[in-house]
Amino acid sequence: MQKQHIAMYDELIDKLRKNQELSKDEYLILIQNRKKCSDYLFKNSTEVREKVYGKDIYIRGLIEFTNYCKNDCLYCGIRRSNKCAERYRLDKEEILNSACQGYNLGFRTFVMQGGEDGYYTDEILVDIIKSIKEKYPDCAITLSLGERSFESYKKLKEAGADRYLLRHETASKSHYEKLHPKEMSFDNRVNCLKNLKKLGYQVGAGFMVGSPFQTEENLADELIFLKKLKPQMVGIGPFIPHKDTPFKNENAGSVELTLFMLGLIRLTLPNVLLPATTALGTIDPLGREKGIKAGANVLMPNLSPVGVRKKYMLYDNKICTGDEAAQCVECLKNRIAKTGCKIVVSRGDYKEN
Ligand code: 5AD
Ligand code: FES
Repeated sequence: MQKQHIAMYDELIDKLRKNQELSKDEYLILIQNRKKCSDYLFKNSTEVREKVYGKDIYIRGLIEFTNYCKNDCLYCGIRRSNKCAERYRLDKEEILNSACQGYNLGFRTFVMQGGEDGYYTDEILVDIIKSIKEKYPDCAITLSLGERSFESYKKLKEAGADRYLLRHETASKSHYEKLHPKEMSFDNRVNCLKNLKKLGYQVGAGFMVGSPFQTEENLADELIFLKKLKPQMVGIGPFIPHKDTPFKNENAGSVELTLFMLGLIRLTLPNVLLPATTALGTIDPLGREKGIKAGANVLMPNLSPVGVRKKYMLYDNKICTGDEAAQCVECLKNRIAKTGCKIVVSRGDYKEN
């Protein structure tokens, strides 16, 4: 009996491996029985990653250029209601300096990430993007600035931005409404993702694992949502409570469930760019290595000036906030070598096939 069951989970994984679609119920069965089939899933997900990207691990230099945010997401440490957050903005020169440091360390993608900060108008952003592109024409620019209008996304694309990260946070509208204040809209979020795709960005969606009120059924829905959206990147990490937010007493997401979701995402979207996130490295000292072994192929170390790092605290105990970028790159090279993979100097674009 027991054996028969295990055979059934493996068959579902084989089905995914053959690029056949799973139903929501089939995903749910795998998620509910993950302890019995995670080894088989990870064997397949690493093989698929290797088939598409070899042993290469791409790095992205994360420049957290503002922690001002007009939004009030209940989970996030830089929400506008958090009066304890010490706010900062980087100017163009500081951003370019971070990029310069990053370039010398081998980064060929810069991710400009920030809260939704009205200070950075299209005009200011266009100027910064153009300057980075002029100085580093061999680099990709990824933006992660939240929700903006179609016209704004268009101007930023025309200025030279290549990619955009906008996690949808959850594929369920009712769950979305439990994580966000009522002025934020799930429909608008999804619409932004669609606009970004229309404009030709390489798009990254994503969600937190173990966020408050999330069910296993929600997680099955995430995979159905992703299969339909077909983003080029998917960022997922465990939810981690932040002490100055309404969710301060909630439980963190688990390493084990995050890894299982990474494996399922790799099989569902074989070519996807999939980071082993800092949040995963925060709840488990070996989280990022385990993420790679579950099928991830991207790391996003911090390039922000050390002086502001502790201020970009989306969740408690974030790692690497005291380290220079050079230290992190060295550290990651060593860590990744132990997994049998290697960090490469490359833009690390999405591979179509
Ligand atoms: N725990 C984990 N991830 C978080 N994020 C924001 N707050 C938290 C938290 N408390 C994630 C969100 C956001 C991304 C930039 O960071 O998914 O999209
Ligand atoms: Fe930052 Fe290891 S990656 S210190």
